[in-house]
Amino acid sequence: MPTATLTVTPLDADDPAEVAAAYQVRARAQANDVPDFPAPCRVAFEVGLRVPWPGDETHRWVARSSSGEVVGYVQANLPTLDNLSNASVDIIVLPEHRRRGYGRILYAHIVEFLRGRGRRVMIAFTAETLPGGGVPRDPGPTAFARAMGMKSALAEVRRRLDLETLDHAAIDAMLADARAASAGYSLVRWGSVVPDELIEGVALLDSDFLNQAPLGDLQWEPENVDAARIRAMDEARVKVGRVAVNTAAVHDETGTMVAWSGLSRPATHVEHAGQGITLVHPAHRGRRLGLLTKIENLRTAIIELPGIRYIDTWNAAVNKHMIAINEQMGFRAVDQWHNWQQEI
Ligand code: ACO
Repeated sequence: MPTATLTVTPLDADDPAEVAAAYQVRARAQANDVPDFPAPCRVAFEVGLRVPWPGDETHRWVARSSSGEVVGYVQANLPTLDNLSNASVDIIVLPEHRRRGYGRILYAHIVEFLRGRGRRVMIAFTAETLPGGGVPRDPGPTAFARAMGMKSALAEVRRRLDLETLDHAAIDAMLADARAASAGYSLVRWGSVVPDELIEGVALLDSDFLNQAPLGDLQWEPENVDAARIRAMDEARVKVGRVAVNTAAVHDETGTMVAWSGLSRPATHVEHAGQGITLVHPAHRGRRLGLLTKIENLRTAIIELPGIRYIDTWNAAVNKHMIAINEQMGFRAVDQWHNWQQEI
């Protein structure tokens, strides 16, 4: 087999043709690899070239074959406020150009770059078919990560809720139960920007969540989340056009925010939303506050995000309580996602 050649250059955000080509690599790969996702949000991709995500330094490259065609795209996110030894990467090759050695070249490129930046742990993600069957996925990306010597540090199952098949009577009954079990707590709601009076509570809960979410063998230290970071993330999310819906529960006696559920959807399509955080403070568990905030938030989203139909959520297998809530609400398993990790 002839040796593959590839020219890898930093993505020029001022070159519309190159930006469009890079976006197309992402979009066409996603249509091949996870066809039940909508096309990646173009607004988020283009605005994201100018608006950094708070706490992340992002680097992007395009890869051209010897004919000059853009056939690959690589992105690396380097955390800047914590996890300073880590980086998450995304190596993408157009489906019709795979198995020619391009992925290997891009992998070598990114490893060399990250070593030069003093990053020690590289993380990447791929989807695969669920072990027992389910929606079939191209085995290539997972085979590639294994071939590069990466280890699956955390496997998560993606579940999807289709609101067209939502059992409203069952949801109403679950909500009534949750309301009865959670006397002494009041709900607060906000959209894409958390109000000043709630921001400290949100920051505290967010850092709790990140400190407790099951991470398997992932080398990921607790993130330094404070009010300023929450505010900066809200502002960045608004700039890339994501619309969010959030519901939290406040403990009436102490005024402390103790549970929170949020979801959001991108600027460019209406049907698909991603479930964000759902968290109950450990001292307040067992009162159905997770179910309460999640269902109340879903009901708000149905009103405030017209056209919403699908909600995707990812859970580690050990997160049994959250999975039970999701299954009860009608979320169904679709595919399995690996968090690959490698010390470089
Ligand atoms: N089946 C079995 N093994 C495979 C397959 C496959 N379909 N694809 C790649 N491999 C393994 C093989 O060992 C291969 O070596 P070989 O061809 O000598 O046997 C090795 O990976 C390298 O393959 P390349 O040809 O260099 O990889 P390719 O150019 O096909 O790109 C990539 C691989 C980037 C994963 C591509 O499939 C893709 O774009 N997938 C979608 C995006 C994605 O999931 N990226 C994340 C990958 S993990 C990461 O970023 C570190």
